[in-house]
Amino acid sequence: MRILITGASGFLGRRAAAHFRALGWQVIAPAHAEMDITDASEVRRRMLQYKPQAVLHCAAVSDTGACRSDPQGTALINVQGAENVAFACRMLGIKAVLCSSDQVYAGSILPAPHREDELLMPSHAYAQQKLQAERLWLGHCPDGVCLRLSWMYDAVPQPAEHGSFMTMLLTALRDESLPLCLPVYDRRGITDVNAVVSALPAALSLEGGVYNFGAPGGEDTFHTLQKVFGALGLADALARLRPDEQAFAAAPRDIRMDCTRASACGIVFEDTQQGLCRALRAVL
Ligand SMILES: NC(=O)c1ccc[n+]([C@@H]2O[C@H](COP(=O)([O-])OP(=O)(O)OC[C@H]3O[C@@H](n4cnc5c(N)ncnc54)[C@H](OP(=O)(O)O)[C@@H]3O)[C@@H](O)[C@H]2O)c1
Repeated sequence: MRILITGASGFLGRRAAAHFRALGWQVIAPAHAEMDITDASEVRRRMLQYKPQAVLHCAAVSDTGACRSDPQGTALINVQGAENVAFACRMLGIKAVLCSSDQVYAGSILPAPHREDELLMPSHAYAQQKLQAERLWLGHCPDGVCLRLSWMYDAVPQPAEHGSFMTMLLTALRDESLPLCLPVYDRRGITDVNAVVSALPAALSLEGGVYNFGAPGGEDTFHTLQKVFGALGLADALARLRPDEQAFAAAPRDIRMDCTRASACGIVFEDTQQGLCRALRAVL
């Protein structure tokens, strides 16, 4: 099989590319400069040249602050870019998988865990862009798949990689002079990126639609880590851990996902606490 992965120099894309290669797939991973997704004709030209049999679209601006400060510039990438890729996938008649986000549930007035089919009213630019991208994606490719990913981490970060939750955590665990302060008003799943990557080949066989695709979250970040440190016997870390009662206090966030749809298709993620325990045990 030949798969084209956009954003393959990024956090998820580079691991996805390595995984598909290890499975024996031919992976086409055009760099940003080689296939700028905001350039519709370049996307079409490259896709016709490479003739992939499937596409995994990871390219995006995933920095929510950047989307807030430049909603138009980032929409060009997150929305128009996704549409350009979806259009090319339709042209080739191939399976198209879009990486979306659990952030589409930010601002929801419905209780968590959130379901794919619920009414959404995303509260910030990144979330709005991701939802718009999903709609365009499925509009062009009804057989396409949109994966709502949670916050991801890798216990073994790559050199020069942007920070993930685990990078922040390990840095704070190893340097006692740093604060170990985590929010109590933020509830979401946090998933080992390697678990997501391992599930991607199966995602290519899902029927068209939207799937919550990550670890079910339990408690808020502070209480989750309190339990993780307790389970691992990290008494010093437990003593240093403090609740951050400022972050998200004005608008408490609960974007935990109901992953029943994916699990009914055999794609099951361990919960946030179990995953963090396992990942930390391996590196500490
Ligand atoms: N990381 C998370 O925890 C997380 C959570 C939920 C959802 N997601 C979603 O998962 C996907 C992957 O996220 P990530 O963390 O891997 O992102 P990332 O590390 O920021 O990587 C983004 C990738 O997109 C490429 N890119 C940006 N603009 C482009 C353009 N105009 N044309 C072509 N390529 C472009 C970047 O290439 P250059 O660096 O060369 O510009 C980079 O390879 C995104 O859709 C994100 O929204 C991520």
